[in-house]
Amino acid sequence: MGRSTREVVALKKGDCIEHVVGPLGLPYPLANLGTVALGGGCYGIGAIYPIARALKQAGNHVICVVEASSSYLFYMEEQLRGVCDELTIVTKDGTRGRKGGVQEAFVDLVQAGRKVDQFVAIGCTFMMRMVAEATRPLGVPLKVALNSIMVDGTGMCGACRVSVGGKTKFACVDGPFFDGHAVDWDELGYRRAAYVNEEIEALPQEAAGCPSGGATCSPKA
Ligand code: FES
Repeated sequence: MGRSTREVVALKKGDCIEHVVGPLGLPYPLANLGTVALGGGCYGIGAIYPIARALKQAGNHVICVVEASSSYLFYMEEQLRGVCDELTIVTKDGTRGRKGGVQEAFVDLVQAGRKVDQFVAIGCTFMMRMVAEATRPLGVPLKVALNSIMVDGTGMCGACRVSVGGKTKFACVDGPFFDGHAVDWDELGYRRAAYVNEEIEALPQEAAGCPSGGATCSPKA
């Protein structure tokens, strides 16, 4: 959505990103929990892949649920099938699999009598919040990977501040994984919108001043 994301997406094969910093934060708390259901939406489909693989290697029964607006938006399906025990497809428009979102698929599992020891949800803030609200009454812990706005990524600027269980945390060093049922989602949504105006103001400069999309040159005076 923002300028920097557009610049990254505009890169072509063979182009370069000047600096990459990472990995940041804490690794997923890997353990043999029993049955773990992972839900990925949008970029989260890719994000759950290494976690599913590691959970499977740790001896868990791994259920993956992948969500997209429509059937043509899925990716990495075969890779995911190779690392999980069950794969469920959900689409918002019903063009493939169950109609709905990850949250409905998670609720279906529990209502069908399946014992799930942990849910994991990775995707946009809205999707993770929907999963948190739907699974709250089920009594199953939920891990979410928060995507608050980050600037330095090393715990110094405070941009990524989130409230979890009434405590202030920095997503870049304390996260990204937090208890989804304890996150202050209203605050996170508000803070994620903090630079909406600046992002909009940045776009015309990019379009007007930089034919490469802004990744490798300065806007014209
Ligand atoms: Fe600056 Fe987390 S991004 S403290």
